[in-house]
Formats: sequence, structure tokens, C-alpha cells
Amino acid sequence: MEPLYTKIFGIIQRFVLLNKLHIVRLLFFTEILLVLFACSGVVAVTQNNLLIPVLALIGKKLGTLSVVLLCFVVIPGIFRRLQCFTIVRVTVMSIRRHLGILMYLTGVIHSLFTYWMPRFIFGPTPLQYFQIFGMVTLSLGFPLFLTSNDFSVKLLKKMWDVLHKGVYIMLFFVSLHLLFLGNGLGIIVFILVIMECVSYLYSTRHHDHTITR
Ligand code: HEM
Repeated sequence: MEPLYTKIFGIIQRFVLLNKLHIVRLLFFTEILLVLFACSGVVAVTQNNLLIPVLALIGKKLGTLSVVLLCFVVIPGIFRRLQCFTIVRVTVMSIRRHLGILMYLTGVIHSLFTYWMPRFIFGPTPLQYFQIFGMVTLSLGFPLFLTSNDFSVKLLKKMWDVLHKGVYIMLFFVSLHLLFLGNGLGIIVFILVIMECVSYLYSTRHHDHTITR
């Protein structure tokens, strides 16, 4: 008998594939809204400093959302290499690039609201390790963010695949960001880093040459 998860993901997959254009448009619209929200947040805080704690709270939630999206972005690759949960992989793959863009934007706005805005208003404080790891993550993500589009895929060809493997290094630095913060999510992300390494070893033994785009 067909396992329950296959049935559920079958329905989700059909929905995603049938409505891919609408979903991509919705994600694009969300990206625009996020940027506008970040801009209005910055303007509002410069007008009224009392809003800083509210923005910091929203910023923290966006950090958590960014981690969840990052997990969605890397899990298909791990499943592909381990040759399991094909249906989950195919479903996420079709919108993966947009999830990556959203992950980066939420990460940037998170750092803006929790770190840059308070420093800008109240002045600098000594940089902590977890903040350095967060900054490394966003720096690594920048070229990926810029090249998460059809034009770059066509232009860079094989180089695109190599460049976008950088997401796994991002994953490692996010785990450090969270572990140094003492946040429990760090353990989950670190487990994903280990699964990532295991899946690589497994795939090199099984000669996996599938394209990841
Ligand atoms: C994609 C990159 C990043 C991700 C996924 C991320 C994720 C997170 C998460 C999940 C939290 C915990 C939120 C909570 O307690 O509810 C957090 C906290 C925080 N992050 Fe990030 N972060 C990233 C980059 C950065 C950067 C670049 C900075 C700035 C230098 C930064 C500064 C902070 C600060 C200040 C906190 C709050 C610490 C506290 O609880 O006082 N993060 N981050």
C-alpha cells in the first residue's frame, strides 16, 4: 500500500506543479513586500527610536523564518544524494530558487532590525562571535542571491552549480551563529550539516551526477 506521506506529498506536488506560475508570482510579490517593509521599518525607526524593540522582535522572528527557509533549500539536495523521498524533493525543487531569495532577504532584514538599526541609533557595541558568523553567512549568500535567476543559470552553466554549492557552507555558518547564541535551532541546523556531509560521501560512492538546478 502507498505510504501516507507519498499520498500527501503527491497532492501537494500536483498542486505546486499545476500552480507553479501563481506560486512563483506570489513569492516574488512577497519578496517586494519584504523589501518595502524593511524600508518603512528603517524610516519609522529614524523618526521614533521607541520602535527599536518592536523591530528587534520582528527581526528575530524573521531570523527564525530565514533558518526554516534555508532548511527547505538544502533538504532536496540531501534527499537527492541519498536517493530517498523523491516526491518531497521534486515538489520543493520547482520553487527552490525563490525560497532561496526569500531566505536571503529575511536574513538581511533580520540583521538590519536586530543589529544594524540599534547600532545606528544607539552607537556601536563590541562585535560578538555569533554576529561575525551571521555576517559571514550573509556575505557568502550575496553571490547566490544575485545569481538565483534563469539568466544566471544559462550564463554560468556548470559554474552555477559549483557556486550554489556555497549554500552548504552558509548552512554551516548559520549553525555556528545559532550555537554561539545558545539557540536550540542550532542543533537542528548542525544535524543538517552532518547529513549534508554523509549524503556527499554516499553519493560519491554511488556516482551521482544529477544536475541540482
Ligand atoms: C542568513 C543569516 C542569518 C540567519 C538565518 C539568522 C538567524 C537567527 C536566529 C534564528 C536567531 C534567533 C532568533 C530568536 O531568538 O528568536 C538570531 C538571532 C540574532 N541574530 Fe541572526 N541570523 C542571520 C544573520 C545575522 C546577522 C548578519 C546578524 C548581524 C550581525 C545577526 C544578528 C543577530 C542578533 C543580534 C540576534 C539576536 C540575539 C539575541 O537574542 O539577543 N544575525 N539569528
